[in-house]
Amino acid sequence: MEATPILSRSDSRGLLFRPPAPAPLAAPLGPFAMLATLRRNPVETWTEAHFEHLVLSGRTILGRAAVVSAPDGIRRILVENAGNYSKDALQRRILAPGLGDGLLTARDVRWRVQRRAIAPLFSPKNVLSFGSAMAEAADALVSRWLRRRDGTIIDVQKAMARVTLDTLQRTILTGGLGRTPDEFLAALTQYFESIGQLDPFDLLDFPAWLPRITRIRSRRSLTFFNDAVETILARRKALLTAEPQNAPQDLLTLLLQAQSSDSSTGLTEAEVRANIVTFIGAGHETTANALTWTLFLLAHSPEWQERLAKEADSLAGASSEVQAQSLVETRAVVEEAIRLYPPVASLSRAAVGPDDIHGHRIRKGTLVMIVPWILHRHRRLWTDPDVFDPRRFLPGARETIDRFAYLPFGAGPRVCIGASFALQEAAIVLTRIMRQFSLSPVAEHDVTPVQHITLRPKGGMPLIVKRRRGAIHANG
Ligand code: HEM
Repeated sequence: MEATPILSRSDSRGLLFRPPAPAPLAAPLGPFAMLATLRRNPVETWTEAHFEHLVLSGRTILGRAAVVSAPDGIRRILVENAGNYSKDALQRRILAPGLGDGLLTARDVRWRVQRRAIAPLFSPKNVLSFGSAMAEAADALVSRWLRRRDGTIIDVQKAMARVTLDTLQRTILTGGLGRTPDEFLAALTQYFESIGQLDPFDLLDFPAWLPRITRIRSRRSLTFFNDAVETILARRKALLTAEPQNAPQDLLTLLLQAQSSDSSTGLTEAEVRANIVTFIGAGHETTANALTWTLFLLAHSPEWQERLAKEADSLAGASSEVQAQSLVETRAVVEEAIRLYPPVASLSRAAVGPDDIHGHRIRKGTLVMIVPWILHRHRRLWTDPDVFDPRRFLPGARETIDRFAYLPFGAGPRVCIGASFALQEAAIVLTRIMRQFSLSPVAEHDVTPVQHITLRPKGGMPLIVKRRRGAIHANG
C-alpha cells in the first residue's frame, strides 16, 4: 500500500503538507491477510473505524483485544489502574530474545528494582549536563556532511543512526561499544530487520520450542551483541578495579554498582547485561527515527527550515544547556514529527483482571492496545490530523493538548526513561543541521512508513543536502 504526499487545504500562509501514510482500510482484513500484513507492516492493518471510535474491542487473531484511544481510558490503563495491566506476552516473546529481562521488558519487582537503580542517570540535571557531549556528536555529523559535495544526496536515516549511536558513546556508555560504530550499526540493522517482521508463530502463540524463522536469522546479530557486551563489561570492570576514582559515572558504572548477590535490592548479572543491550537498542534507534522523520518533514517545508535556522542562529554561542531549554520552535517541529510518525507506533498490555474503560467492559486476559499511530491521527482528537503543522506545539497551543491524546513516550510508571534525553538530543542535532544546511526531497523516492519494531521509512530516507549561504560557522 502506498500513499503519496499531497498538499492539503490552504490556510492564511499557503498550503499545508500532508505527508504520506497508509490510508485506513474501509473494512477489517480477513485472518490470512491480517497475518501477512501484521508481518509486513502493522500500520497497514487499521481501519477507518479505529480512527473514528474511542474504544474498539472484540475477537481478533491475537485473541480478545481492545484498541483504546479515549484519553480518560488511556489514563486509567497507564496510570490510575496501571497495576492491572502488565507488559503482554506477545511483546515479551518478540523483544526478550534480544533484550533479555532489561528495563523495557521486565515486570513487577524485577522492573521496580531496575528502574530505581537506573533513574538517577536520567534526572533533569544529569540530562542537561549531557548537552555538550550531544553537541560534540552533532558537530562531528556536520563535519562529515561538510566534507561531502554540496547538493549531494544523503541517506539521513543512516546518518541519524550514526549520530545517535555516537551520542550514546559520549554520554551513557562512555567506554565505547566494544566494536566500531559501523559494525554495530550493521548488526543493529540486521537485528531490527529480522525480529521486526513479526513471526506468525509468535503472533499465534505457538509453543516456544517450535523454532522461529526470524529468531534463526537474528541469531548472528545476537551473538555479536553478546560478544560486544562481554568486551564492554570486561573493560569497565578492569577500570573499576584499577582506578575506581577515574571511572565515569555513566550507565555502566551505575549498573555494575547496582549489581548485588541480593536480588531483592540489586541487579542480577543477567540484568546488567540485558540493560546494556536494551539501552543501546532503545536509546539510539527511536531517536534516530524521530530525527529522520523530522528532517523529511522539514525537507517539505522551506518555511519551517527558515524558522529553525533563524532560531538556531539566534542561539549560536549560547551554552548547550541554554539552547536545550530555549529551542521552542525546534522542539515544536520534533513534537509534530513524532505525532505524525511516532517511533513507537503501538503500546500493548495484558489485563490481569477485569476493568471498565471509557464505559467498555474489559475482561481478564484482554490484549489492550494503545496505538500512538491511531491516537495521534484520531479524527475526534485532532484538527486536520494528517497535516504537518508544528504550530500545534507552540506555547499557547501546546497546553491545550490532552496529556493522554499525545503519547510518543507513553505515560505512567513505564513512561520512557529517556524522553528528555531524546528530545534534548534531537533539538541539539537539528539546530546544528539547520544552521549549516538546507534540505529538499528526492523526487523519485517514495516514502512509506513501516513498523518494524520502530516506525522507520522503508528503504531509507535520501534527502538532498545543500549548504546554507551565510551559515554561521561558530560551534556552540
Ligand atoms: C524519540 C525517542 C524515543 C521514543 C519515541 C521512545 C518511546 C518510548 C515509549 C513509548 C516507551 C514506553 C513503552 C511502553 O509503555 O510499553 C519507552 C520506554 C523506554 N525507553 Fe524510550 N523512547 C525514545 C528514546 C529513548 C532513549 C533515548 C532511551 C535511553 C537512553 C530510551 C529508553 C527506554 C527504556 C529503557 C524504556 C523502558 C522504561 C520502563 O519500562 O521502565 N528511550 N520509550
